[in-house]
Amino acid sequence: MSERWTPDSWRALPIQQVPDYPNTEALASVERQLASFPPLVFAGEARRLKRELAKVANGQAFLLQGGDCAESFHEHSADNIRDFFRVFLQMAVVLTYAGASPVVKVGRIAGQFAKPRSAPTETVNGVELPSYRGDIVNDIAFTPEARIPDPRRQLEAYRQSAATLNLLRAFATGGYANLANAHQWMLGFVKDSPQSSKYQALADRITEALDFMRAIGVDPESHPEMRATDFFTSHEALLLGYEEAMTRVDSTTGDWYSTSGHMIWVGDRTRQIDHAHVEYCRGVKNPLGLKCGPSLKPDDLIRLIDTLNPDDEAGRLTLIARFGADKVGDHLPALVRAVKREGRTVVWSCDPMHGNTIKSPSGFKTRPFDHILGEVKDFFAVHAAEGTYAGGVHLEMTGRNVTECTGGARAISDADLKDRYHTYCDPRLNAEQAIEMAFLVAELLKQEHAGRERPVIAAAE
Ligand code: TRP
Ligand code: MN
Repeated sequence: MSERWTPDSWRALPIQQVPDYPNTEALASVERQLASFPPLVFAGEARRLKRELAKVANGQAFLLQGGDCAESFHEHSADNIRDFFRVFLQMAVVLTYAGASPVVKVGRIAGQFAKPRSAPTETVNGVELPSYRGDIVNDIAFTPEARIPDPRRQLEAYRQSAATLNLLRAFATGGYANLANAHQWMLGFVKDSPQSSKYQALADRITEALDFMRAIGVDPESHPEMRATDFFTSHEALLLGYEEAMTRVDSTTGDWYSTSGHMIWVGDRTRQIDHAHVEYCRGVKNPLGLKCGPSLKPDDLIRLIDTLNPDDEAGRLTLIARFGADKVGDHLPALVRAVKREGRTVVWSCDPMHGNTIKSPSGFKTRPFDHILGEVKDFFAVHAAEGTYAGGVHLEMTGRNVTECTGGARAISDADLKDRYHTYCDPRLNAEQAIEMAFLVAELLKQEHAGRERPVIAAAE
């Protein structure tokens, strides 16, 4: 890998997952336009997220990252964004209380449009067409015209990201994110859940804590930090032409930042160390994620860390483990040990979605809730055994009442999947399943903090 980095140095390297644009002139013209547009996020915000993630790396905060597998142009509405944010905040309340530490809130949103695919083409009833690569590239409809990569879609993705971010900023700071609201919504969830007795005790304790705070004069009216929250955006940095166009120099530091989102990550399919995606990401100063799947060897992980976080900066790199409930115990310990042995500072987060996708008997791509939970549990168990910190979760979820993952308190069955299966890509936890997952992760987080913070009391008497 060449030492000198420029926003376009990735172009000289081998690359995976590139759309086949028929009109390269049109593509170049779109990229020039994007490069002239205002940034979506600011360098200072990315630095703030990095500081928050540094706390996670040190075991003093927890990362909650989640959102759609793929955002879509068709489903872009204020209601969808609001419903997602509302669920996300409820999860954050529960996790903040359980961990007694801040929750760093990062959406897979306002830029999560490009999808890596297992094959470049897809065959249906004997017809072979290019695969759908996300709305920023082509259309999901199975027709030859729809599947042609169209660069103008990148302008639409930029527009949608800007509009989404604008609304999220308003929600996060304009009163909607008031802690009292989020708590009331959470109580509504508990009341309606078929498993409500399981969650009631934790919900009651949060109510008591807030009542106590109010009694002593600490309430949202007098404390602005209870009315607002920091919310950050993230997406996979897959479509590098788009990312390059959104890469800007920060005038205060002279450093390069990706301004398409606060945090970007490298996927499990594009993390080859001498290839384009790692090259692009190493040069921008944003917090980075790296998806770690079963094929990643400990030595390769250390080399990737050398490249992506050479100065061992806390908060720079989040390792997102995605092995599958049946494999996490086989693969994660060796990676955790290697990172610990080499003394590297990372955030360890668990993506329990991507290693647990199955084809249901009725033919839907789904993920059983119990497998998702199983992977999270094993992730925490591995960290407890290794003396490291399970720092976060990365979930595919929506605020809507879809039927895409089976199980959960409402026991969605294979036969139910057809009712509201709306995803553009992978199956997501629905609103109830997502909040339920937060309650279950909260139990694990509580144990983790209890184990770490147990004071050593010398035996008296
Ligand atoms: N500002 C704090 C935080 O973001 C408290 C807070 C305000 C909060 N609104 C919230 C926490 C909604 C969780 C959910 O952590
Ligand atoms: Mn996905």
